[in-house]
Amino acid sequence: MKLSTLQFAPVLGDLNQTIDRLEKLFHSIRETDLIVLPELANSGYNFESKEQAFALAEEVKESQFIQFLQKKCEHLDCAIATGFCEREGEKLYNSSVLLDKNGVFGHYRKLHLFMNEKAIFEKGDLGLPIFQYQGIKIGMLVCFDWMFPEVWRKLALQSVDLIVHPSNLVLPYAQSVIPSYALVNRIFIATANRTGKEGELEFTGQSIIANPKGEVMKRAAQKEEIIECEIDIQQARNKMITPLNDAFEDRRTDIY
Ligand code: ACM
Repeated sequence: MKLSTLQFAPVLGDLNQTIDRLEKLFHSIRETDLIVLPELANSGYNFESKEQAFALAEEVKESQFIQFLQKKCEHLDCAIATGFCEREGEKLYNSSVLLDKNGVFGHYRKLHLFMNEKAIFEKGDLGLPIFQYQGIKIGMLVCFDWMFPEVWRKLALQSVDLIVHPSNLVLPYAQSVIPSYALVNRIFIATANRTGKEGELEFTGQSIIANPKGEVMKRAAQKEEIIECEIDIQQARNKMITPLNDAFEDRRTDIY
C-alpha cells in the first residue's frame, strides 16, 4: 500500500482558495492508495469567534470540500482522510472523514479539544470507530488526541493496522512521540500536519509516517510538502517483539 501525507496551509475563511491550492498540490501526486490531509483542512484553524467557525463549517452530506476531494479520489483511484470543520444542526465538531470516489465511509469527531477549541466545538461523540479500506483496518485521531496514550492503545487493541492523524500542531512535542506510539502498539501512523501562520499561531509542519518498529519512514520539513512511502501492512499484524514476547499478549491485564 502506498501512503501519502499532504502538508499545506488551508486559507482561513476562504474555501475556494484552499481548493485552488490543493488542486495544484494534487497534480504532483501520481499514484497512491491513501492520502492524509491536515486537521480542519476545509476551514483553517484560528477562528476569531464561534460565529466565524459556524459560518465556515460544512455538513458532511453537503460539503463543497468533500465533493472536491471525492473527484480527486476518482481521478487518482485512492482514498483520502481529512480533517473537517463539521456542522450538524447548531453544533460544531472538529472531525475527520475518510472517503473514496463513492463518498464518505469513515467519520470521527475529535475527543480531546485543545485550548480555544473548547469554546467552539462539541467534544467528539462517535467513540473510536474503525474503518476498512482495501483490507486495511484504519483508525482516526485528530491532533491533540496525540497526548492521550489510551486512544492509540484502544484502537490498536481493536487491531487497527494504521492510524491516520490529521493535525494542526503548534506544540513541538507530538512529532517526537508518534514513532513511540507506533512502536509500542506495533502499528503504522501517518500524522499530516499543516504549515503557515494564523494570528499568533505558527504550525510546526514535519508531518511524519512511522512504522511498527518505531522508525520514521518519512518526515516533512516545515513547508508545503507531500511525503509518500510504501508500507507493508503485514508488519502491523505481527505483535512479536522477540520470539517469546508478544506486545499485546504479555500485558499484565490482571494488574492493569
Ligand atoms: C491541536 O489540537 N490542533 C493542537
